[in-house]
Amino acid sequence: MPDALLHLHSSREALMEATATFIAARMRASAPDRPFTLALSGGSTPAMLYRLLGTAAYDDLPWDRVHLFWGDERYVPPTDEASNTRLVHATLLDARPLPNAQVHPIPTGHGDPTQDAAQYEATLRTFFSDEGPTFDLALQGLGSDGHTASLFPDDHALCELERWALPIDAPAYMDPRLRITLTFPLLNRSRATLVLVAGASKRDILHTLLYGTAEERAPYPAAHLQAHDGVHWFADHEAHPPAHPTRT
Ligand code: 6PG
Repeated sequence: MPDALLHLHSSREALMEATATFIAARMRASAPDRPFTLALSGGSTPAMLYRLLGTAAYDDLPWDRVHLFWGDERYVPPTDEASNTRLVHATLLDARPLPNAQVHPIPTGHGDPTQDAAQYEATLRTFFSDEGPTFDLALQGLGSDGHTASLFPDDHALCELERWALPIDAPAYMDPRLRITLTFPLLNRSRATLVLVAGASKRDILHTLLYGTAEERAPYPAAHLQAHDGVHWFADHEAHPPAHPTRT
């Protein structure tokens, strides 16, 4: 990936500090007269980041105009341990409560993911049009299989050109399997995207995504992320060993 914007950090803690600093800079630089729209990823990696953003060090950010969205959701109740909504409440919003009007979780209450995905799309369409930029920042995770959000290899959702949110039946190795995900037509119009990668389990996939040929990268959904101001890859040294290891 010749134009990859790569930010490497020696530890998970340093990685999360740098990621929070990047997000803060994007918020501060955004137009003060409109919402700052942030799409959050789920999984385990961002928990430390969300806790950090809930600390006093980040009180001075323009939280009164920050709107939170989710890039994907497991199709479980918001109180379920597997819920990405629960994750964000437990790690960020409990410490930094925002008005409900600024927090836009993906609904999972209809018992029908197709209907809930359509409802979320309607919410998204009150913020974004079919033209121009969408999220100010899309925070994405990376699975060791190259998935991002809940866009998995070989899934029909990768070819979606119209809808912004889709129900997903994730591969059998994922649990839970039933999910809702945002799609590339929406995600790839973000002003900026940050892919947060930590841990040795991501080393192989990250190396392929950053240094593989176009043909080697093609099967992996994360390889197809785009953003107006670029896709920033933030990784710790476990996921991306330093080019020149420092002499110990
Ligand atoms: C999810 C996430 C997903 C996640 C990756 C990485 O709902 O699971 O949105 O895309 O970011 O699976 O997960 P980890 O951070 O747990 O490795």
